[in-house]
Amino acid sequence: MINFINKLPKAELHLHIEGSLEPELLFAIAKRNNINLKYATVEELKTAYSFDCLQDFLNIYYQGAGVLIYEQDFYDLTWAYMEKCASQNVRHSEIMFDPQTHTERGVAFKTVINGISKACSDAKEKLGVSSLLIMSYLRHLSEEAAFKTLAQSLPYKHLITAVGLDSSEQGNPPSKFKNVFEASIKEGYIPLAHAGEEGAADYIWEALDMLKIKRIDHGNNCLQDDTLVQEIIKRDMALTVCPLSNTALQVVDNLKNHPLKKMMDLGLKVTINSDDPAYFGGQVNQNYIEIQENLNLTKQDLYELAKNSFQYSFLDKDTKQYFLEELERYYLNNN
Ligand code: ADE
Ligand code: ZN
Repeated sequence: MINFINKLPKAELHLHIEGSLEPELLFAIAKRNNINLKYATVEELKTAYSFDCLQDFLNIYYQGAGVLIYEQDFYDLTWAYMEKCASQNVRHSEIMFDPQTHTERGVAFKTVINGISKACSDAKEKLGVSSLLIMSYLRHLSEEAAFKTLAQSLPYKHLITAVGLDSSEQGNPPSKFKNVFEASIKEGYIPLAHAGEEGAADYIWEALDMLKIKRIDHGNNCLQDDTLVQEIIKRDMALTVCPLSNTALQVVDNLKNHPLKKMMDLGLKVTINSDDPAYFGGQVNQNYIEIQENLNLTKQDLYELAKNSFQYSFLDKDTKQYFLEELERYYLNNN
């Protein structure tokens, strides 16, 4: 099974590039930027990676992202992730980045986007990994701040496919960002949002109806509302589920109780993703491996999940077809 998963062609649709910053690289970048960290060693830092809830994690995650200052830092961060994609047979990745995490500290939007997008373009050429970018608004900040970010992004619109909504969910409902999402759609960005990770089902309704999202990030709590589940199925909308993130942030107490298989059985279109792999104990393949073991998923289930990852990506029709055929050949030869 592990071998089957490792070689399975797949896409990753929910990945925060700042959350892929491994402690070793974090230390190396801090050193070259003369930043003093609160932790003396990589091991000491890792002991802080134990979380009670989303906010607990976000506090550490924003601290970690604070070492990123120069274009080269964003390049190195993204390149390291893309190398991991290549080694896991992730053929395509839809990468979220949080510009406000950096612009709020005085780093220019241009520095962030140039570093990330250059690494993506090199990865396409040298590693054969395809990618696109999702600019995420931080929901703990104001809608006005998101509008400012939208304006900053416009000169780089050709490099960005979608907008997302992340950070502290509780108390920051999708409705807070209705206007900026409307404006983002007008600019040609595809709308997405984290919803129903810690927030209740009504946040998912809001994201669907007010933000007009095309894919749901997490969405676990849709299971609280049968009508919502049916609506998501009717709209043929996928969920980007992140098993190891869910247990790390105590959204789910144990992978044995993870609702992923239940979601699939209900007819929901589910994908498997790593969210913030440097913080949650595993890359995307580790998420596949652990959820397979805990829920006894079959090769057919895994094939279904990988198929959804291409099917519900924002790739163009022909590229999607190309990857889907590659996946089908793999499945036929290996099951
Ligand atoms: N930012 C990075 N990871 C996140 C998550 N899992 N939920 C909300 N915001 C995030
Ligand atoms: Zn996320």
